[in-house]
Amino acid sequence: MEDLYTGFSNYDEINKENRAKAVEDEVSKWGDDADKFKEYRLKWNKAANDNYLPDFPLHLDIELSDACNLKCAYCAQGLGMVTDVGFINNDFAYGLIDQAVEMGICSLKFNWRGEAALNPILPDLVKYAKDKGILEVQMNTNGLPKKKDILIECAKNGMDRLIFSVDGFSKESYESVRIGGNYDTLVKNIHRLLDWKKENDQAKPFVRLQMVRSNVTAHEVDDFIAYWQDKVDDVRISDVMDRGQGGSFSVGDRKTIGRRRCPQPYQRLIVARDGRVSPCCADWDQKFVVGDATKDSLKDIWKNKRMTAMRTVQEKDQHDKIDICKNCYVKESFIWEKIDD
Ligand SMILES: C[S@@+](CC[C@H](N)C(=O)[O-])C[C@H]1O[C@@H](n2cnc3c(N)ncnc32)[C@H](O)[C@@H]1O
Ligand code: SF4
Repeated sequence: MEDLYTGFSNYDEINKENRAKAVEDEVSKWGDDADKFKEYRLKWNKAANDNYLPDFPLHLDIELSDACNLKCAYCAQGLGMVTDVGFINNDFAYGLIDQAVEMGICSLKFNWRGEAALNPILPDLVKYAKDKGILEVQMNTNGLPKKKDILIECAKNGMDRLIFSVDGFSKESYESVRIGGNYDTLVKNIHRLLDWKKENDQAKPFVRLQMVRSNVTAHEVDDFIAYWQDKVDDVRISDVMDRGQGGSFSVGDRKTIGRRRCPQPYQRLIVARDGRVSPCCADWDQKFVVGDATKDSLKDIWKNKRMTAMRTVQEKDQHDKIDICKNCYVKESFIWEKIDD
C-alpha cells in the first residue's frame, strides 16, 4: 500500500508510518471506486518517479478564491504576495470541471493561494464535480469559514477529502503563526465535521489534519499526533518552506543535498482565480505562467511549449534555467538530509 503514495517529505519520521496505515484504511473505504483510486495513485507515483508523462494531468487545482480571512506568517497571504483578490467566475469554474471530466482527470482540489470555503459556490461545485464523475474532490481549508455550515454542505454534496490546516497543538502557538485564526473555533469546527460523519455513518470526507512544523510548533508535534491520530483519518507533518520569509521559521534540522526531477509538472496543472495556469504550486506570484485557461484548453496547455520546457529542465537537471525552479522551495524537488545533533 505504501507505493500508492509518493512519500516525498522533508520530515519522514512520522509521515511514512502514518501514511502507510492511512492508505490501507482508506482504500478499504473507497468501495466500488477502490480499484480506480489505486490506479490513479499508482499513476501519480509513476509520474513522480519514472519519467512517465500521462496524456492528461492526473490532478487539477482550481483556485476558487485567492482571498483569505487569515494572514498566516509564512504564507503568500501573510507575506503580501497575493494582491487584487476575489472569487473565480462561476461559469468559468463549471467549464473547467467539464474539461476535467472530458480529459479524464482523476482528482480536483478547489484551492491554491487563498481560502476556498469563503466562496459560497463551493458546495455546488463539489456536487457538480461528483455528479459528473470526478473520482476525488478535495480541498485544503483553514477550517474557519464565514458561513458556518459550508463544510458540512460540502460533505453532504460528496466531498471526498478535507485537509484542515492546524499549525500547532496549543492556542498560543497556533494563533501566533495563523494570524487572524481562532484555535478554539477551529477545533470546534473539526469536531463538528467529525460528529456529522459519525451521526450519518459516513466514511467520507476523509479528514486529514496537516501541521506545518516550524520553530514555533516543532515541540508540539508529538502531542498533536497523540491527540488527533485516532480521531481523524490521516495526520501529516510538513516542514515550513521558505515562501519569501527566509529562514525565520525554519527548525534548522534538515538540509537539502541536491535537486531531483520535480513531480509536479508531470502530475498537475494549477488554474488561478484569474485563469492563468501554473505548472506547480510554488508559482505563487505567477512568474511562470504556461497558459490562459480563459482562452486555451487545458488539453492544449498540458503539452504546450512552456510545459515541455519546464519538463526538459527537470529531466536534464537544469533547474537554474527557469527562475521558479532555481528559487524553488517545494520539498519534492529536493533531496533532503537530516542534520545530526
Ligand atoms: C496556502 S494554504 C491554502 C488553503 C487554506 N487556506 C489553508 O490554510 O489550508 C495551503 C497549505 O499551505 C500551507 N502553507 C502556507 N505557507 C506555507 C509555508 N511557508 N510552508 C509550508 N506550508 C505552508 C498552509 O498551512 C496550508 O496547509
Ligand atoms: S489560511 Fe491558508 S491561504 Fe490563508 S493565510 Fe493561512 S495558509 Fe495562507
